[in-house]
Amino acid sequence: MTLSGKAAIVTGASSGIGEATAFALAKAGANVALAARRTERLEELKTRIENETNAKAIVVKTDVTDKAAVEMLAAKTKEAFGSIDILVNNAGVMLLSHIKNDLIDEWTRMVDVNIKGVLHGIHAVLPTMLEQNTGHIINISSVAGHEVTRTSTVYSATKYAVRALSMGLEKEFSTTGLRVTNISPGAVESELREHITDEEVRSNLGNKKRTLLHADDIANAIVYAVSQPEYVNVNEIIVRPKLNY
Ligand SMILES: NC(=O)c1ccc[n+]([C@@H]2O[C@H](COP(=O)([O-])OP(=O)(O)OC[C@H]3O[C@@H](n4cnc5c(N)ncnc54)[C@H](OP(=O)(O)O)[C@@H]3O)[C@@H](O)[C@H]2O)c1
Repeated sequence: MTLSGKAAIVTGASSGIGEATAFALAKAGANVALAARRTERLEELKTRIENETNAKAIVVKTDVTDKAAVEMLAAKTKEAFGSIDILVNNAGVMLLSHIKNDLIDEWTRMVDVNIKGVLHGIHAVLPTMLEQNTGHIINISSVAGHEVTRTSTVYSATKYAVRALSMGLEKEFSTTGLRVTNISPGAVESELREHITDEEVRSNLGNKKRTLLHADDIANAIVYAVSQPEYVNVNEIIVRPKLNY
């Protein structure tokens, strides 16, 4: 299925998986609304999309923790492209820490961005997608939404929540034109780890040698999911790096 003429919103499009996904969707034909807080990065991506693909892009400065800002993102997308066909709920933070270190502000931040941000996205696009009787919501969870490690307790809690939201949406809207895909990446090379402040976690990260996926590997999975015929509902994709590579 071609994505030509489709309109997509990608949150967290200023780096990593979101940036790669926005470009891949544009390359596949979709017009994209680029959302994040760092607008200079979004403007660079918009220029690259318009120079290297046939798609259009708009930049919408958005903090996903702000419900009104996400509502505005949906409204601007519809105004620019006439519909909202794809939402990639990707913006997220991974502030790994030990619970004993009591970084409660970081726990709150993860709940706000990773759970409330995803809910704001769903809230903002749902009326349009139901009215169109077509639309595809992609939620980015994680393998941390399937397994918990000693330092991922709160992050995993938020990513389990994202999976629960995906499963519930899928069931509630199964008889409508809405499709839902939960994507669970394993470790991907990106800026995500740079924001970790727990010193014990940071010092261990440096010692670990492991294979990392590229952001494009996840973007490819997303393009696969949204490119299937309308009757095909790709509900869950887990992409892990091959450890012995
Ligand atoms: N990298 C991995 O190993 C991995 C594995 C599994 C799942 N994931 C998930 O994949 C998603 C993307 O992560 P990434 O690896 O691409 O990390 P990244 O490069 O750090 O990208 C995170 C994105 O989220 C945006 N963001 C953060 N807080 C935001 C807010 N309040 N409002 C709007 N945007 C916000 C950032 O944009 P601004 O700072 O410009 O706002 C940035 O574009 C996250 O949900 C993450 O949990 C990543």
